[in-house]
Amino acid sequence: MSSKINFDISASILAADFRNLEREVKAAESAGVDNIHVDVMDGVFVPNISMGPMIVETCKKITELPIDVHLMIINPEKYIEAFQHAGADRISIHIENNPVVNVTLKRIQALGCKAGLVINPETDLDLIEGSLIFADFFLIMTVHPGFGGQLFINETLQKIVALNEIIKQLGIAQFIQVDGGINPETLPACYHAGARDFVAGNSIFNHPRSIQEAVLELRESIK
Ligand code: DX5
Ligand code: ZN
Repeated sequence: MSSKINFDISASILAADFRNLEREVKAAESAGVDNIHVDVMDGVFVPNISMGPMIVETCKKITELPIDVHLMIINPEKYIEAFQHAGADRISIHIENNPVVNVTLKRIQALGCKAGLVINPETDLDLIEGSLIFADFFLIMTVHPGFGGQLFINETLQKIVALNEIIKQLGIAQFIQVDGGINPETLPACYHAGARDFVAGNSIFNHPRSIQEAVLELRESIK
């Protein structure tokens, strides 16, 4: 009897070669990733500036895959319409410094997108208690947000286990996504801790051989 291991891989284009964005996204799609992850940074919420709705619109023209938009910006409520309009299928917002998080999650859903709630490595899990029922999924950052190519923070594994426990106790259907430093070595530990969606940038787009091989290695990292 074979037991199929099910999880999503979300390719973070932050690590893609933007000279060839179309080729990179299409290669990730044919390698079998489940979502295209777009990291939006404003230089205020995180110390880096990346991309905005134009890139989401561009990705939407390239691929049929769902576009997973990770907002690392202040006042995300001001921009969710723009991202939905650009083609976002999922929009995730951080819990940190956000007094209107529940209202914003509900507005994301009202726009027809899945709403994700993101928590940073140093943020206490208690902070999301009042928002658990409003999100469609949770994103646990496994690095400090702002840059790709960082080392996975091992201490975040306990947070995945703890949140997974809460989800089970409450009997709710949300899943856990993880983001940062995900590769064939770190993915299995996150999976066993309870994560089911894996954002990966460098391990996919900067693989020494190919995007195809990179995705296969991630898929086969759990036996
Ligand atoms: C970091 C971003 C990540 C990043 C992951 O702030 O949210 O999505 O692209 O990159 P890797 O997989 O290279 O750590
Ligand atoms: Zn991200």
